[in-house]
Amino acid sequence: MTLYRRELLLIIPLFFACAGENGAGDAERSPSTNSTMDHHSHARPDEAVITHLELDIAVDMAARTIAGTATYRIEDHGKGRIILDTDGLIVEKVMDGKGEALAFTLGDSTFLGRPLEVSIPAGTESFAVQYRTGRNAKALQWLEPHQTADRKHPFLFTQGQAILARSWIPVQDSPGIRFTYAAKVSVPDGLMAVMSGTNPQKPSADGVYSFTQEQRIPAYLIALAVGDLAFKPVDARTGVYAERSVVDNAAWEFADMGRMLEAAENLYGPYRWGRYDLIVLPPSFPFGGMENPCLTFATPTIIAGDRSLTALVAHELAHSWSGNLVTNATWNDFWLNEGFTVYFESRISEALYGADYAGMLQQLGRQDLQGELAKIAAGRHPEDGRLRLDLAGRDPDEGMTDVAYEKGAAFLRLLEARVGRPKFDAFIRDYFDRFAFQSMTTDRFLAHLDEHLLKPNEVEVNVAEWVDGDELPANAPTPVSDRFTKVEEEIARWEEGTAARELSTSEWSTFEWMHFIRHLPDGLTEARMNELDAAFGFTKTGNAEVLAAWLEQCIRNDHDEAFDRLDQFLNTVGRRKFLVPLYTRMLETEKGRLMAQTIYRSARGNYHSVAVHTIDGLLAWKDNQPPVNF
Ligand code: BES
Ligand code: ZN
Repeated sequence: MTLYRRELLLIIPLFFACAGENGAGDAERSPSTNSTMDHHSHARPDEAVITHLELDIAVDMAARTIAGTATYRIEDHGKGRIILDTDGLIVEKVMDGKGEALAFTLGDSTFLGRPLEVSIPAGTESFAVQYRTGRNAKALQWLEPHQTADRKHPFLFTQGQAILARSWIPVQDSPGIRFTYAAKVSVPDGLMAVMSGTNPQKPSADGVYSFTQEQRIPAYLIALAVGDLAFKPVDARTGVYAERSVVDNAAWEFADMGRMLEAAENLYGPYRWGRYDLIVLPPSFPFGGMENPCLTFATPTIIAGDRSLTALVAHELAHSWSGNLVTNATWNDFWLNEGFTVYFESRISEALYGADYAGMLQQLGRQDLQGELAKIAAGRHPEDGRLRLDLAGRDPDEGMTDVAYEKGAAFLRLLEARVGRPKFDAFIRDYFDRFAFQSMTTDRFLAHLDEHLLKPNEVEVNVAEWVDGDELPANAPTPVSDRFTKVEEEIARWEEGTAARELSTSEWSTFEWMHFIRHLPDGLTEARMNELDAAFGFTKTGNAEVLAAWLEQCIRNDHDEAFDRLDQFLNTVGRRKFLVPLYTRMLETEKGRLMAQTIYRSARGNYHSVAVHTIDGLLAWKDNQPPVNF
């Protein structure tokens, strides 16, 4: 605490120097970068920085490449060079504004890719790079028709976060550097392209699509998807893109998008991105959702047929404020994106579906956090239990755990409890206005918190323990839910001899089922597992959350009957949140390890590079080869 106070004294003057004058409404004049060191980018924005990107690219589905020209407007500080990030890109030519060649060098390749250093004469306002993507561009997942819902056309999507944008665009790939973009994208006949900006609602006649993003965004939020897409409006401001056979179900499932958007605006101020649409991607998409501006990218595994998994949409929508508007300055500050978003998501859910619903989600989140913290404490990086991360020298992906999400949200809930909801809401709303289109470091946030919330309300909080401590502080608010207590009572009744089909489950939502499955007793016999499955039909459920929780129990209890379903699930779905627990469970026994290796051998080709990277690590595989002792 003492240390924290001393740090604050140092931070506050700095904070005023760079942001103090920048009140609400002044966002337009805010700098396009801050000078925070980002260990995950080669860019030197203090020397020269991108202010606008113009892409003119062609997508070749057959050759699996994107090729074209990126033209940049820059702010040059006269150091004679600009440095961009690249990863696996083939740079063909670099040109000045008149088309004359500029000298460039590509530096050594590391896990950050290769720096592209371009010599620019003093006064340079723009330049261009002609390039093509490499063989295994990490951001890109190229899908064969059979990997899509309609099985007729190929599909491509990009994933930029955290440091993958540089594998499809030469760019200053740091969350602290923001710019506007425009793009002209040409795609093969019969396919439609959408991006994280203004979007078409119909296929174009010539396969050429134009996009703009007029708000300044960091590179990780540039995104593209190409496929045989259809669009269906949900209401005037929101709608859904998906393959033809999916779009009607998707529009039904996400019918509340517009209400979510209104609830979000009522809480924390105007939505500043024009339309809010969502695209449902094929099941190999490695995340639940990705908050690409104007167009959330989502997994089809949230289409449960009963609207029960749509809190994910509230989450990605909330990022339109926390993340896309006020952005973590570096990946060490990731909790400022995700912790705020989980908090905000829960407030949207509460507004639409009530406190009970939000409370259940909070409890499930706390369970995830406790599991994650136990793993982290036992692992090589116990310091990953902190909100403020130190990921220098590491792939940022490694530090992106439930800690940022759930410990971050718990911290905000504690602050809310200490000052009361009205004051906390006013503080958050002002925070989004004041720092709109800027990046935020943990230090800067803490200084702002102290100045604008804690001091004025004479509240003392153990901030240092929350931000720089490895554990969950004892004063974390405990989420409560009556409804889960009732689930636990039913589990107890089952253990005491009541037949599964006699249990009182008729009112249960997906969350209660998840809690039920997660809290089944250890060491269930084949007969007991069969009894549950016969009563509740878990193995054949179409709800991916319920199925994934059940399959985990099947592995734990060696329930062979479900293994075909497990094999099929892991060969279709590439969402990392499901893959990691299932493969991890399998690795706990010798029999399971063999099964994991067999399944992975066939499934690996269906996973996106970020999932491959993670599961390769779990199984200790390299380059599609099992380890030598396999
Ligand atoms: N921005 C994240 C996804 C992400 C995180 C991509 C880190 C790359 C690196 C997104 O907003 C997210 O958090 N998605 C969650 C869903 C959410 C409801 C917790 C997911 O994908 O499971
Ligand atoms: Zn998120």
